[in-house]
Amino acid sequence: MMKNKLLPYSAQIEPVIGTDVKSLNDLETFYRNVYLDCFTNKDERESLNNLFFYLKRSTKTRLWKYHIILIKDNTGSILGGAIFDYFKKSNTGMVEFVAIRKDYQHLGLGSFLYRAILRYLIADARQNHLTKPAYVFCEVEIPATRGRYKKNILFWNHHRFRHLNFQYIQPNLSPGQKALNNLWLMMRGTDTSVPGQLILNVLSDYLKYGMNIPKPTQNPHYRKMRQEITRMGNVSTSTLSESTRPSGKHRLTSKNTQS
Ligand SMILES: CC(C)(COP(=O)(O)OP(=O)(O)OC[C@H]1O[C@@H](n2cnc3c(N)ncnc32)[C@H](O)[C@@H]1OP(=O)(O)O)[C@@H](O)C(=O)NCCC(=O)NCCS
Repeated sequence: MMKNKLLPYSAQIEPVIGTDVKSLNDLETFYRNVYLDCFTNKDERESLNNLFFYLKRSTKTRLWKYHIILIKDNTGSILGGAIFDYFKKSNTGMVEFVAIRKDYQHLGLGSFLYRAILRYLIADARQNHLTKPAYVFCEVEIPATRGRYKKNILFWNHHRFRHLNFQYIQPNLSPGQKALNNLWLMMRGTDTSVPGQLILNVLSDYLKYGMNIPKPTQNPHYRKMRQEITRMGNVSTSTLSESTRPSGKHRLTSKNTQS
């Protein structure tokens, strides 16, 4: 392990500011040099234009905060970044993407970035007159038994996320993209069961703000998830190791769902 190659304290976090040209240039560099490399599935990732659009849009509402933060070394090189949301009504965070440049992974930078995400979400909750977010959710590609997916799961397991046991479907992010059912929705903490209505509220805000779907209740993928979650009442959670067991009852397919 090259643990000493770059210690987290020599790295710094910077938010992307939608009105600052240099900051937007940094976002473009992150997108081209790190994000595209980490998220190779065209249907899973956002376009750069969408990122610009959401940054601008979130300044126009108090109900939602959209954050993009970058991690840089002490020379200003961009090593990674994270994209996440805060939803005011449900006081929850949603981690959309965390990406560390491939040659800088396993050095603790992902955890450094993750801790920064939590600080931003706590600040959002405080602005909302609350002490901290009630829940933090995260999307992740379902784990293959080998390769990079398994590794990602170990990362989220390390940070105490649990799998929500329902078939999450990510609606298509833009008109030319496909909806996906090869992602899991996860939640941080130790709760073994979560009220379905809470998840539906968060999903509704996520689709509305983070995916530009103005009326989630008219979206077929949201409706499908709503049907399943309503039937369950409460959604159970599993540790990520339970969920990744081949015999586990929540085995999910990796086929794309046409939108
Ligand atoms: C997932 C990702 C952000 C992790 O970043 P990272 O800087 O490599 O992770 P860290 O070094 O902070 O690892 C933190 C912990 O995660 C676990 N972990 C991460 N990689 C691991 C690996 N290859 N094997 C075992 N455990 C691993 C360990 O518990 C580790 O703690 P430790 O080093 O004290 O044992 C990074 O691998 C990445 O960018 N992947 C591609 C994009 C992606 O899939 N993002 C997540 C979905 S949004």
